[in-house]
This record gives sequence, structure tokens and C-alpha cells, in this order.
Amino acid sequence: MNLLPLFQWFDSTAISNIIRDSTYIFPVVEVFHLFGLTLLLGTLTITDLRMLGIGMRRQTVAQVATQLAPWTIGGAIVTIISGFLLFLSEAMKCYGNAAFPWKMWLLLAGLIVYFLVQLRITRPESRVHPAMLKVVAVLSLFCWYGVAVAGRAIAFV
Ligand code: HEM
Repeated sequence: MNLLPLFQWFDSTAISNIIRDSTYIFPVVEVFHLFGLTLLLGTLTITDLRMLGIGMRRQTVAQVATQLAPWTIGGAIVTIISGFLLFLSEAMKCYGNAAFPWKMWLLLAGLIVYFLVQLRITRPESRVHPAMLKVVAVLSLFCWYGVAVAGRAIAFV
């Protein structure tokens, strides 16, 4: 499927031009992107490590995951909205960028793992084998740190 017309449209929107023409909007939005991903990756890392049996052993996996879920989801919302604004301002750069598609596929995988698997198997009433918790934790870390590496790589590839 040829996505070029879609990326050209994203690149030509009024918001794209406002961000591109401003000296300060892109860096300010990127600060929100960094804030969001710090919350997202920070809380996910603590949850995934607890699922691997590392850290916070005085609380159950369900207690840790349930308490941190609002922060993880809040971080994801801030990161995705700010990321979309950054993308709008440089959509054509992202179109030709080798790291961007990787970032979007890993992001999709990370969202599926978190919302369709991790939130379910970490509920207090859920009964899953500890090995399953470990597999999902490793998958989650791989997806989300993959997104972060690809996000950083956008500026270099
Ligand atoms: C939700 C998970 C996400 C994570 C963990 C993430 C992570 C990152 C990281 C680590 C950077 C580099 C920041 C820096 O160099 O200062 C970055 C930059 C960026 N991200 Fe994201 N991001 C996410 C979502 C998104 C989304 C959904 C989009 C677009 C639809 C996006 C678009 C961008 C763009 C355009 C940049 C700037 C690249 C550049 O020109 O340097 N991000 N992201």
C-alpha cells in the first residue's frame, strides 16, 4: 500500500506548519514526550521486573500491576499524543526513515501485549503459571524498549 499521499497530507496540515515554523513548540512537545515515556517505561519496568520475581517482593504481582496501571496508561496517553504532534511536524522525514516503521510495529505489539494480555493476567483473581508471567514480562520489555530505541534512532538513521 502506498502511504506517501497520507504522509504528505500529515506533513501539510496547519498544525504541522505551526510546529515547524516555531522555534520552541517542537522541543516543548518533546519534553512532554520524554515525560510520558518516563512514566510509561518507568512503571512498566517495575511491573515487568515484579512479574519476573525481581523487586517489590512484599507485594503480589497483582498489587504492583494494579497500583501502577493508571500511571502506565496515563504515560502512554501523554507519549502517544505528543508523539503524534512530533510526527505531524516531520511526517515526510518519518516517511523515509528506516527506524519509524519499526517503532510503530513495536508500539502496536506493546499495546496489544499490555492491554490484551498483561492487564488480564495480572488481575487479583487471575490464576496463571509463573512461567507465563515471565514470558509476558520479557515480551513487554522487548516491545517497549524496542519502541524507545527506534524512537531515539529516528534522528540518526
Ligand atoms: C508510546 C510509546 C513511545 C515511546 C516509548 C517513544 C519513545 C521515543 C524516544 C525515546 C524518542 C527520542 C527522544 C529524544 O531523542 O529526545 C522519541 C522521539 C520521537 N517519537 Fe516517540 N515514542 C513513543 C510513541 C510515539 C508515537 C506514537 C509517535 C508518532 C506517531 C512518536 C513519534 C516520535 C517522533 C517523531 C520523535 C522525534 C524523532 C526526532 O526527530 O528526533 N513516538 N520517541
